[in-house]
Amino acid sequence: MSDRPKLYEGLASWFHLLTAPEDYADEAEQYRRILTEACDPPPQTVLELGSGGGNNASHMKRHFRLTLVDRSPQMLDVSLGLNPECEHVPGDMRTVRLARTFDAVFVHDAVSYLTTEEDLRAAIETAFVHCRRGGAALFVPDHVRETFRDGSEHGGHDGARRALRYLMWEWDPDPSDTTYVADFAYLLRHEDGTVAVEHDRHLLGVFPRATWLRLMEAAGFRTEIRQAEHGEQMGSELFLGIRPPASMDQTSG
Ligand SMILES: C[S@@+](CC[C@H](N)C(=O)[O-])C[C@H]1O[C@@H](n2cnc3c(N)ncnc32)[C@H](O)[C@@H]1O
Repeated sequence: MSDRPKLYEGLASWFHLLTAPEDYADEAEQYRRILTEACDPPPQTVLELGSGGGNNASHMKRHFRLTLVDRSPQMLDVSLGLNPECEHVPGDMRTVRLARTFDAVFVHDAVSYLTTEEDLRAAIETAFVHCRRGGAALFVPDHVRETFRDGSEHGGHDGARRALRYLMWEWDPDPSDTTYVADFAYLLRHEDGTVAVEHDRHLLGVFPRATWLRLMEAAGFRTEIRQAEHGEQMGSELFLGIRPPASMDQTSG
């Protein structure tokens, strides 16, 4: 199975017809509030790892100075079109090093593309080294192992000249491992009215709550679990890591 869905490469220009920036206002506001309350002093600079089409960023940028990292050049272009005032940097959340710290680090659903514990550990380490002392990191995986259920949903949007409808079917071939799949069918209506159909398999990771907390604490974060307060994600778990201030940081000697 490819770990590079078509949606983030050849089909990236369709991304905002699958999931539109305006639908993210409520959740972005909750993430803003959690990060603002967790950081002392409140955050001004925020690093987003796996920022994709920049949907959350399009709301958060009103409050923070954002640096957006994604491994897909096509998705960085899509986000740049929406968020020209934000800094965009190509990079993989497991390995990228920007040689500076931020007040907060935000990792939304892109973290769900990490399928092994080692990859998740590496991304949490990336968040930690880019988070200043007294700052915070917020991780928003699509699922945790305890609550994952097979399921499907559909949606899509009309643009000025093109339109997209999709069916997403999440299912787990082996509930004893740390992966599941999301099979997408896209109907892509072009400007001339022709409709193409594409199948796109996304291979995704899912981890028990205890794995999240263990890896975050091993990196040096103090952890808290929060619950999503919006839409279809209502009740799903958000993992908040607080990097202790210098006076409490075990690594500060
Ligand atoms: C669903 S999109 C993210 C959308 C984003 N939450 C938003 O608000 O628009 C998932 C993104 O994760 C990125 N991604 C997946 N694995 C990555 C990795 N290891 N490092 C950086 N980006 C990654 C993909 O390139 C894709 O752009």
